[in-house]
Amino acid sequence: MNVSVLKDYEAMSKAAAEKIAELVNANPNALVCFAAGSTPIGTFEILADLAADKKVDFGSCKFVGLDEWVGMDKTDSGSCQETLWKTLFLPLQIKEENICFFDAKAKDLQQECQRVDQYIMDHGNIDLMLLGIGVNGHLGFNEPGVSFNSLSHVVNLDQNTKSVGQKYFETERELSKGITLGTQHIMDSNTVILIANGAYKAEAVHRMIHGEVTNELPATILQTHRECYVYLEEGAFRR
Ligand code: PGA
Repeated sequence: MNVSVLKDYEAMSKAAAEKIAELVNANPNALVCFAAGSTPIGTFEILADLAADKKVDFGSCKFVGLDEWVGMDKTDSGSCQETLWKTLFLPLQIKEENICFFDAKAKDLQQECQRVDQYIMDHGNIDLMLLGIGVNGHLGFNEPGVSFNSLSHVVNLDQNTKSVGQKYFETERELSKGITLGTQHIMDSNTVILIANGAYKAEAVHRMIHGEVTNELPATILQTHRECYVYLEEGAFRR
C-alpha cells in the first residue's frame, strides 16, 4: 500500500487524477471502474480538464459500475449511475456502449450480477479502480462481514450506510439493499487507487492502513493488494 498525504482536497484530487491519467495513457484500452459518491468529484473535474487539454483520452476505455442502490437507476437523482453520468461520463463524453452498469431495477438481480461478472471476465479483469471508503470501512457496497472471495452480489446495507447515504438525495429515500462488485474484483484488479478526505474518515483510514486484516473492516484487505495507491487529504490521516 503506497500512502500519500496531501495538504487539502484539491491536492488529493490532483494526485489521484494524475495517477489515473498516467495509467490510462499507458493502457488506453483499459477497463476502469470509478466509484460514485462525493469524494471523487474533484478528481473527475481534473480528469475532464486533462482530457480537454488532450493530456489523457478515455475514448477507448471501457467503464464498469462499482455499485448501485437497489431500486434506482440513472433517472433517480443521487443514484450512483446518475452521479457518474453527471460528473464523469458526460463531461468526458464517454459513449454509452462503453459503459456497463448494474440495472438495479431489474427483476432478477442475480442475473444482473452474473451479467456484470461476465462482462469483467470477458475483459480479463479490471485494470484500474478508483475507490472511496465508507466510515464503516466499506468499499463499494462490500459491507462489514462480506466474504473476501465475493464477486458481484446483492447486499442488505449496513445501518451506517443507510443513514450516511441519505446525503446523496434531496428527499429521504428508503435505502435497504445495494448491488455491488465484490472484493474479489477489487483484489483482482491491476491497480487500485483509494481516496479519502475529512476527519470523519480518519478512524476507518487508520484501521485500513494499520489494523488487522478483517472482513469487519473490508478496506483492510487492500493491505494485501499488489498495487494499491492511497491518496489522503491531511484531515483523513492520523499519525
Ligand atoms: P463518499 O462515499 O465519497 O460520498 O464519502 C464513500 C463511500 O461510502 O464509499
